[in-house]
Amino acid sequence: MAKALFEGKEIVESYKTYRPHYSQQVADLVIDELKKASPSKTTFDLMVEVGCGSGQATNLFAPYFNKVLATDISEGQIKSARQQNKFQHVNYNRGKAEQINVDDGSVDLLLAASAAHWFELDKFLLETSRVLKPQGCLALIGYFIPRLTPILKEQEDSSSYTTDLFYETASVLGQEHKPEEYEVTSKYSGICDKIQASNIRRFMVNEAYDWDLIAVKGFMRSLGTYDEYINKKREELQASDKNIQKKDDKSYDLAEVFGEKLKQTFGLQSCFDADIKIKAEFEIFIIVARGVSGVKHV
Ligand SMILES: C[S@@+](CC[C@H](N)C(=O)[O-])C[C@H]1O[C@@H](n2cnc3c(N)ncnc32)[C@H](O)[C@@H]1O
Repeated sequence: MAKALFEGKEIVESYKTYRPHYSQQVADLVIDELKKASPSKTTFDLMVEVGCGSGQATNLFAPYFNKVLATDISEGQIKSARQQNKFQHVNYNRGKAEQINVDDGSVDLLLAASAAHWFELDKFLLETSRVLKPQGCLALIGYFIPRLTPILKEQEDSSSYTTDLFYETASVLGQEHKPEEYEVTSKYSGICDKIQASNIRRFMVNEAYDWDLIAVKGFMRSLGTYDEYINKKREELQASDKNIQKKDDKSYDLAEVFGEKLKQTFGLQSCFDADIKIKAEFEIFIIVARGVSGVKHV
């Protein structure tokens, strides 16, 4: 099984608490596409979600299906998803996106929310073509880091600076990631180019959240390679000085580094994190493909 990145207890907790939940508009756009082949239907037979995390998107889409199988490669995420599950018709199981445990041609909607950039794309698209019904849809949802505006400073339009600082700080984490064209930065255009399908549609939805600095740091800690990076840094630090008080040294913790830089820049050093209010705006992109027959070799 491929390496599980979202496994540690800390990242699972940050994920559950600080990742955005998608709005009803996101579900409506996808379900409207699904309904195009059968407009009178109000519910469909089967949705499979791969890379379900702690169930953010699963909960939103579950009411439209008689049965939902939501899978994730990470045992920690599946445990967290099961703990919050309120639907009897939703089953959370550990599993890979590239190998889905359902019959050929049985799935109405195959969903991957903020997850497809982690998959082995060619294998995943072949598996997609195997499991989808002829009129079934593949839906990929994604977002990049949010645009951040400290509320107190909004009038000075500090948002580009804050967002750039956040990106610069977090970009150290991306080192072992996939090629850029498959990345969220390109809004999945590279992934889109590889989907062999009879019809592909793209949508954008803007979502805004009122956060504080605690939430911003929590979001940063929920990024895929954060745990790995931090553990490596802790080990390096310990190896370089065995007497060092690891808990007190925050120099390697990117979320803390970002928080401090932000406070300094805006002269908010004396404020508690909870008092620093920040507007977080996400651009959510949605790709819906019908008639997926595999991988396009570009
Ligand atoms: C960024 S999270 C998205 C979680 C959730 N769907 C959401 O919208 O917030 C990506 C998830 O994909 C899972 N994942 C990564 N590679 C995977 C693979 N090859 N097969 C299944 N799940 C995978 C990770 O464990 C992680 O939980």
